[in-house]
Amino acid sequence: MLTRRCKSILNPHRPTTNILPNHLPHPAFPVRFNHTQPKMLHAASTTVKRIFAPTGGSSDPGHAIQYQRSTLEKTDLAPSPTAQFHAWFQEAINANVYQPETVTLATASLPDGKPSARVVFMKELDDRGFVIYSNWATSRKSADVRSNPQAALMFWWREMERQVRVEGTVERLTSEESQVYYDTRIRGSRIGAWASPQSQVLSGREELEKRVEEVEKRFEGEEKIPVPEFWGGIRVVPEVVEFWQGRESRLHDRLRYRRVEEGEEGNEEGWVMERLSP
Ligand SMILES: Cc1cc2nc3c(=O)[nH]c(=O)nc-3n(C[C@H](O)[C@H](O)[C@H](O)COP(=O)(O)O)c2cc1C
Repeated sequence: MLTRRCKSILNPHRPTTNILPNHLPHPAFPVRFNHTQPKMLHAASTTVKRIFAPTGGSSDPGHAIQYQRSTLEKTDLAPSPTAQFHAWFQEAINANVYQPETVTLATASLPDGKPSARVVFMKELDDRGFVIYSNWATSRKSADVRSNPQAALMFWWREMERQVRVEGTVERLTSEESQVYYDTRIRGSRIGAWASPQSQVLSGREELEKRVEEVEKRFEGEEKIPVPEFWGGIRVVPEVVEFWQGRESRLHDRLRYRRVEEGEEGNEEGWVMERLSP
């Protein structure tokens, strides 16, 4: 099982280079890439590649799409990553990016360290960070952040050939704060938050529908529904934010903000900006 998984990520046409850090290999990946070890775990393979080097949407036969829309320089950046994010978000709206608030949220549980990721909507941004709303009692993400209050967010705005990555610590909003957003949701979504034990196994769709009926009865005639205490916002307070602009030949522009103490590294804003190799 393990050897099959390792083999499938290797591209037999790629030259071998020693790209992994120089520490002991993880037991699941015992083979390091270098010039003396064979890169294939088995010489002969009967595995049929179902997908290989796809070039969907490219007008250059056999070659991947090239990113050419824009460039990114340090001098383009705002002093803080939240200000910079806000500027890019406005540009995404102006460019008709479909739901630019769509973001992948990655979390990981401790002590097993297993990561999990899912798409959510970013609903609020201020100088403190990025807010998303969810169930914090039964979902996988809630179990993850209970054991490990760290998260990563990843936005991909295809039309702009831009990616934004955020890493930071997670803090829960108060129920008063969550109520403000909850009140903006249509009634069906407010009922749904009460009715769904998110990510728990259901006997069938009927079980969910029965729960919805029960909650509807409970709040019948009430316009104002209280936000469930198990539901609400979390804020990802950024430590690192990277702005990525696609460039030709995969030589992309990557500029990263890293939080430092004010005055540290000669920095008055609390953020150091660095260019990363693509
Ligand atoms: C476009 C899109 C937006 C979503 N937005 C949210 C959201 O804001 N909050 C949420 O809890 N789940 C949202 N979901 C559902 C999650 O992807 C996921 O199914 C759910 O949160 C349970 O995940 P978990 O068990 O890993 O915690 C969204 C899914 C999609 C595809």
